[in-house]
Amino acid sequence: MSTINNKIFPETFLWGGALAANQVEGAYKEDGKGLSVADVLPDGIWGPIVYPPQGEYLKHQAVDFYHRYKEDIALLAEMGLKCLRTSIAWSRIFPKGDEEQPNEAGLKYYDDLFDELAKYNIEPLITLSHYEMPIHLVEHYGGWTNRKVITFFERFAKTVFTRYKDKVKYWLTFNEINMILHAPFIAGGIRPDQINVTDQILYQAIHHQFVASASAVKICHEIIPGSQVGCMIAGLPLYPLSPNPSDVLEAMKLERKNLFFADVQARGYYPSYINRFFEENNITIKMEDGDESILKNTVDFISFSYYMSGCATADEELNIQSRANILSTVKNPTLPSSEWGWQIDPQGLRYTLNAFYDRYQKPLFITENGLGANDVVNENGEIVDDYRISYLNAHLNEVREAIKDGVEVMGYTSWGCIDLVSQSTGEVRKRYGFIYVDRHDNLTGSFERIKKKSFNWYKEVISSKGEIVG
Ligand code: BG6
Repeated sequence: MSTINNKIFPETFLWGGALAANQVEGAYKEDGKGLSVADVLPDGIWGPIVYPPQGEYLKHQAVDFYHRYKEDIALLAEMGLKCLRTSIAWSRIFPKGDEEQPNEAGLKYYDDLFDELAKYNIEPLITLSHYEMPIHLVEHYGGWTNRKVITFFERFAKTVFTRYKDKVKYWLTFNEINMILHAPFIAGGIRPDQINVTDQILYQAIHHQFVASASAVKICHEIIPGSQVGCMIAGLPLYPLSPNPSDVLEAMKLERKNLFFADVQARGYYPSYINRFFEENNITIKMEDGDESILKNTVDFISFSYYMSGCATADEELNIQSRANILSTVKNPTLPSSEWGWQIDPQGLRYTLNAFYDRYQKPLFITENGLGANDVVNENGEIVDDYRISYLNAHLNEVREAIKDGVEVMGYTSWGCIDLVSQSTGEVRKRYGFIYVDRHDNLTGSFERIKKKSFNWYKEVISSKGEIVG
């Protein structure tokens, strides 16, 4: 392929990295922060909820970004990052979630963080809710099952939009909103160890999130003219395991479980196919007057995480679910897997970008993609992560193909650009970063930062505007 053909990423492309407050900041009780759902999971999503916490968990200090953000942002700037995605921890701003007045110390922290990014012309892309609901809202209101939480979320959104209106233009509402179906505690503040989480309960909670999200879009547009608000979906294309039409239909049915979330947020109304599912499962959504019209505040762009694809089959004997990220899918026999069993499929990213663009004709943003690997520091003190370079290179190559296909892609923020604490397993040895952090699962480590080999590679990718990809 000629160099000229490689000049395909737009000039405005937001080359970036992505983090989430709960996975990097630590300082889990500092400056008035309240506990969140992230602070009570010692072993990640699949382990028990231990509230109140007993002892110290990895996320309590995480990688100490709260105190080291200046050093980290300087490194990200050295890499040439144009954009940093992170989240505002809801419980730093409203420690319990239902207060009338915000916590000034929490607001001040993000002021300083955004100022630091501005120093280097790094555009912030901010998630309002990245698995960080204040635990008080879980214990006293039942999380998103309770309609009152919409008001608390609106207050939080309004507070941060007003405070950061001159500093943040790009926003996301709920991280991987579709994950509530699989991880109701972190994504919905619903405790499966205490209540029987029926589909009725889940879909009502989802409705509350849809209303809250659409309302945040409206408020953001009013407070910050020119702002852009996106939804965020866990992207996972599902291929039929065989050409059997029953498998094709099964794949369509399962994909719609995820697409439903983007459909409502991008189109502004419930899609017709969901009615049959609701009827067959005795689900009735309680809507209040005005809900349907608030939902019409659709998102400006669609963002998604992409780590893997999966398969679907109608054959019960072959329908063996292997746990992937938060989702489980049927294994694809043609694809390799990461150390954590996530199936690697760069072409699936091109497929997903095209599928979303065909469906919505809205700009797309890849807000997470990366390889979790157990990096080792060699005897020379280096981390030679060629496997990560090859994973990211292959995925970015497919992003370029999708752009050539005509898809409008706003940017790409590689997940965990600095090593962080894993969401699903709660470990730190599952590393995604261009920057290594000396922190270990047994709570030891100096927190020292070391540039990995991929650091220089991504720096070149950005400075060449993607030309070296391929
Ligand atoms: C996404 C989440 O599901 O995947 C992130 O938005 C998460 O919070 C990322 O960290 C990678 O998953 P894991 O389990 O490897 O941390």
